[in-house]
Amino acid sequence: MNHTPEFADPQLVSLDQAIARLKDGKLVAIPTETVYGLGADAADPLAVAKVFAAKGRPSNHPLIVHCASLAHAERFMQPPSAAMQTLLKTVWPGPLTLVTAKTDAVSPVITGGRDTVALRCPAHPLTRELLQRSGLALVAPSANRFGRVSPTSAAHVLSEFPGKDIGVLDGGECTLGIESTIVRENGDTLEVLRVGALSIPELKTLWPGSVVYNASTKGGVPGALATHYAPERGVWLWHYPKSFAFNESDLVCGWHKPDMLCQFQLLPDDPVQCAAMLYPLLRSADLRAEGRLIIEMPPATEAWMAIADRLTRAAHRD
Ligand code: TXA
Ligand code: MG
Repeated sequence: MNHTPEFADPQLVSLDQAIARLKDGKLVAIPTETVYGLGADAADPLAVAKVFAAKGRPSNHPLIVHCASLAHAERFMQPPSAAMQTLLKTVWPGPLTLVTAKTDAVSPVITGGRDTVALRCPAHPLTRELLQRSGLALVAPSANRFGRVSPTSAAHVLSEFPGKDIGVLDGGECTLGIESTIVRENGDTLEVLRVGALSIPELKTLWPGSVVYNASTKGGVPGALATHYAPERGVWLWHYPKSFAFNESDLVCGWHKPDMLCQFQLLPDDPVQCAAMLYPLLRSADLRAEGRLIIEMPPATEAWMAIADRLTRAAHRD
């Protein structure tokens, strides 16, 4: 008996179909613990080019290569230091991306001609199985159109690319809900190029030297634009306790309920829980019939930095 729902979206694919499509040079959106990625065979430059075209992404914004294991990733990078090897063994599979000197096994189409590559081992069980069974390494930027909010469910991906020749492997909702943290080693220092799901306080417990995210590395990844992760209808930031002209039809999300009459949603006190609901919340801005989505800025601490970063970019207007 076939249990496939009668009206299942034709873009949804099984694991076997996903592997067959990828080996055929086609695109498949894959679930990860952070966000869904738009996957293609990293060894096939034509398939990689399709990723840039589908996203509308400039070709000089390099892609992350997703691998099954550290041993797999080592084919694509120059030998890591002992400290880096220890870090990667601890956090992979997991939400950390390493930028490091590449080997010839990485096509310049992936790196925009750079001599470095970004590598990560995702933790989602379905994608781990896909990587292990296929033996492929996959490029996978977040599976959204360029500049828009990253998808954290198969339904989000389908709404980004309706009717396109893109298979979607449904792995449920992403547990972490915010992109991986991107780092680079510089002597004893670990430079954070993009704040993300692995927080700086956590990295500090795992790295023997210093961990820095400052003016010199901030936005150090090509393609880290001021406007990013943005809902079409916009989102507004409230810097509590500053005053804000709320309207009755606005939805305010945060930790302090305004005295004025408006809808209010309490956000979790824990940054991990908050990150998991952030992108669905940003997406909901576009579904509102009226009123603004207004989000309270979180505390200015390292634990909340990734959320503050995404909110600032989502609310930025050029
Ligand atoms: O959690 C994630 O990292 C998700 C999931 C799907 O794995 N992927 C993701 O990919 O966020 P994307 O393409 O949206 O962001 C990749 C970032 C870009 O900002 C890019 O500039 C940076 O990684 N990047 C890639 N290669 C790089 C390199 N060689 N040097 C510096 N930055 C690099
Ligand atoms: Mg992205």
